Amino acid sequence: MLIRYKKNLEKIAMGLLSFMPEEKKEVKKLQQTIKEYESNPDWHLYLWKEDDVIGAIGVRIDNEINAVIQHVSVNPSHRNLGIGKKMINEVNKLYQDKYAVCAADDVQSFYNKYTEAEEQDEA
Ligand SMILES: CC(C)(COP(=O)(O)OP(=O)(O)OC[C@H]1O[C@@H](n2cnc3c(N)ncnc32)[C@H](O)[C@@H]1OP(=O)(O)O)[C@@H](O)C(=O)NCCC(=O)NCCS
Repeated sequence: MLIRYKKNLEKIAMGLLSFMPEEKKEVKKLQQTIKEYESNPDWHLYLWKEDDVIGAIGVRIDNEINAVIQHVSVNPSHRNLGIGKKMINEVNKLYQDKYAVCAADDVQSFYNKYTEAEEQDEA
């Protein structure tokens, strides 16, 4: 299930975010990112918890109009089991009534794959 990030989950959240291509280059960038999620009311971080915390998904509210999914990451031992898709689905459900949900460049390819599959299912 999707849970809201809390400070006591900082280490695990940083570990998960470090799989994002833009975050793994520099520890400093990762520290800034987590700080932004902790302090900026427009940045919302969620974690996916089964027995353990195994995924992270981060959203930025842009101009009170868009909910931009800017981070999505799953622990490598739990990939290809549909967790990434479930997280996107849950975030869509949480935000779609109030915002236009979209993906930042870093998340675009996975997000598109998922939404295209959904559109085909609906067709
Ligand atoms: C992307 C990521 C979150 C997917 O998580 P996951 O739980 O394995 O995803 P799902 O099981 O729901 O979906 C797996 C499918 O997504 C595909 N996929 C994985 N990474 C992808 C990417 N970067 N772009 C497009 N598709 C991708 C897989 O090939 C698989 O496809 P298939 O079902 O046709 O075999 C995970 O691979 C990850 O953490 N990657 C590192 C972080 C990252 O690069 N995030 C940004 C991705 S754009």
